[in-house]
Amino acid sequence: MQVFSPIAVNGMRIANRFVRSATAEGLAAPDGSVTDRLEAAMAALARGGVGLVVSGHAYVEKRGQAGVGQMGVHTPAMEAGVARLARCVHAHGGRFVVQLAHAGGRADSALSGEPAVGPSESEGNAAAGIGPSGAMTAEDLARVQAAFGAAAALCRDAGADGVQIHAAHGYGLSQFLSPRTNRRSGAYGGSLENRARLLLETVGAIRSLVGRDFPLLVKINSEDFIEGGMTAAESRQVVAWLEAAGVDAVELSGGTLDSGRLSPVRPGRFAIPEGEAWYRESARALKAQGLGIPLILVGGVRSLETAEAVVASGMADMVALSRPLIREPGLVARWRAGDVAPSACVSDNLCFVPLRKGEGVSCLTEAREKRRAASRPQGEAE
Ligand SMILES: Cc1cc2nc3c(=O)[nH]c(=O)nc-3n(C[C@H](O)[C@H](O)[C@H](O)COP(=O)(O)O)c2cc1C
Ligand code: SF4
Repeated sequence: MQVFSPIAVNGMRIANRFVRSATAEGLAAPDGSVTDRLEAAMAALARGGVGLVVSGHAYVEKRGQAGVGQMGVHTPAMEAGVARLARCVHAHGGRFVVQLAHAGGRADSALSGEPAVGPSESEGNAAAGIGPSGAMTAEDLARVQAAFGAAAALCRDAGADGVQIHAAHGYGLSQFLSPRTNRRSGAYGGSLENRARLLLETVGAIRSLVGRDFPLLVKINSEDFIEGGMTAAESRQVVAWLEAAGVDAVELSGGTLDSGRLSPVRPGRFAIPEGEAWYRESARALKAQGLGIPLILVGGVRSLETAEAVVASGMADMVALSRPLIREPGLVARWRAGDVAPSACVSDNLCFVPLRKGEGVSCLTEAREKRRAASRPQGEAE
């Protein structure tokens, strides 16, 4: 099967086409450093057969912290932890990429201790637990770029195989891309070129510090699926600019936390009727416009059959999974061994419950099913 064939991304040789899409683990220490539990989670993914493990979003500056237990790559002290994660993934034959993130206006100021800042002032959304935020100054913009650059250099020095810029889902850089959240005038707002400026300058800041040979990936929305958000055509243009700027691979996602049923984590009853691989039309369009760098497709993939079809048809070069690997970190190894039953993940998003409580992400549904099975009298079928 083509999905089990190797691929190289700017010299990073990956054993197969499966990617663990960045997934907040919520397992870092309060100062952002790596814990034994976080290391064990990364090891389980690599042992479980995923060719490329992308870490959960890691904040490049404290002011950009989004959630409890989030990993940080914001100070030199974080390097030793990143090195531990890289070593444990490598020990199982995997490749390890750190997702670099800044939550922008969606940062949690109670956690970071600093006011949240995004492209434009926002009142927030009390119902969704999002506080008000201010607008970044020119100084802030320079600080963000420098923070992404320093974090990428830290990851390279720690032995990570690459970094991925998080420019999706309505967090910091995605807020700049969207006219809904970016209402600035001047060089960083207005036209698409201006809205993409911070992202492209961030790519440049990283490249100037890590050189051309270090793999640099970007995760971006195929569209925001919200009124006034970034459109599909705009996304395709930004991807073309990213390729021209020397980005080595793009992961295609979609939606923001405000996009309802079309959020990046489409919930069960909406996820299934849409079928698997939700952004397939956008992936096809990117390939048709001549994208020359590897394309990673995330979103709703639950079966080996679909993963193989995505790769074999040339729609994308790699397939990324998030929730199926929360439920079953060894899913890829199971498929490879010949048990091709689809993922048991039902996309009910209950894994966010322990994550938000600060207990670390885990599959509550599986735990409930096990408890129910254990309480049934022996021999009684479901
Ligand atoms: C608990 C949880 C945490 C997530 N954390 C991140 C993250 O840190 N960075 C990111 O880009 N996407 C994150 N996502 C989104 C996933 O990477 C992925 O895009 C989305 O879940 C759709 O893929 P799936 O259907 O395979 O789950 C997260 C998703 C879940 C369920
Ligand atoms: S709780 Fe489990 S079954 Fe539900 S979406 Fe998360 S991983 Fe999937």
